[in-house]
Amino acid sequence: SLPVPNVQELAAKKLKEVPYRYVQCEAESEHVAFDMSDQVPVVDLRNLLHHDLTISSNEMAKFDVVCKDWGFFQLINHGVDEELIRKMASNAEEFFNLPLEEKKAYAQLPQDFQGYGQAFVVSEEQKLEWSDMLSIRTLPLYQRNMLFWPKKPPSFSETLDKYAFEMQKLTFCLLSLIAKNLGVEPKKLTSIFDDGVQGTRMNYYPPCPQPEKVIGLSPHSDASIITLLIQNNDLPGLQIKINGNWIPINPISGAFIVNIGDAIEQIMSNGLYKSIEHRAVIHPDRARISIVGFQDPRQGVFIEPLQELLERTNVAAKYKTVNFDEYLRGYFSAKLDGKAMLDLIKFEQG
Ligand code: SIN
Ligand code: FE2
Repeated sequence: SLPVPNVQELAAKKLKEVPYRYVQCEAESEHVAFDMSDQVPVVDLRNLLHHDLTISSNEMAKFDVVCKDWGFFQLINHGVDEELIRKMASNAEEFFNLPLEEKKAYAQLPQDFQGYGQAFVVSEEQKLEWSDMLSIRTLPLYQRNMLFWPKKPPSFSETLDKYAFEMQKLTFCLLSLIAKNLGVEPKKLTSIFDDGVQGTRMNYYPPCPQPEKVIGLSPHSDASIITLLIQNNDLPGLQIKINGNWIPINPISGAFIVNIGDAIEQIMSNGLYKSIEHRAVIHPDRARISIVGFQDPRQGVFIEPLQELLERTNVAAKYKTVNFDEYLRGYFSAKLDGKAMLDLIKFEQG
């Protein structure tokens, strides 16, 4: 990623006009739906795992529809200590509130996606996003580079370490349930996640006096298997694209916002489950922080539509077999661009 100015500092200058490189051309011409019936669904993990079969099978059926139609949901009763979630969010907030000089100690290095800075900046001409980020590879353990783990606040590393394992556990649980819903053997899916890579990205979206002119994060779908998101407050900011409309997500306190990533859309479900395009928008006078866990397959894994599913549904594979590392390399060497990467590996229709 090319070096870019720090947006938090830029926002602090309280400029009347947004600098040219941040002004989006078309972002807001697209329709935003505010119909509450369009609210992203809630999935209850306690019900999914319930010993009462009526309760669990009802929730499982709902979960299946949610993955097919929405690709995004808010997960409640997830079993992760809410105190830990709050602490992770407040530690992230404390980090971003440090003076720039201190944060710079963790600055991204050329050719590395980890650290404090920006991602997806590939040319001097492209429009910039109204956000800063801190990216850290949190798992597997042997791939950690502690140079990028903030020493301030003092509890940051310990919190992130605990949080990383909780996210991994939750991912395993969700993957097993997804496999069950797809009628495939859980191992077929969870095994690509043994020793899986987990990246945790903390996004800082400063306020902007002209929020409709900028974008916090451009529309994209995630390359991941599954993504788990929490934030530091209840500000809406994340929007998802359903049937051409941008639908804002109103975060439920203590819940995870979960989405299906490209790897699942192709590998297991052959397009049955959706990796939905989303973006982040900016608030006029409040900052928002999101903490996003990308759960990826183990390094070097090849992913493709699950044979078992293709046979059972009698549908031809819609995606080519890809090396996930190469997929990620392509993903990170371009500007975020909707579902462009996923389209590249799609077989021609016909
Ligand atoms: C993301 O898509 O990675 C983050 C979106 C958000 O901050 O809400
Ligand atoms: Fe995303």
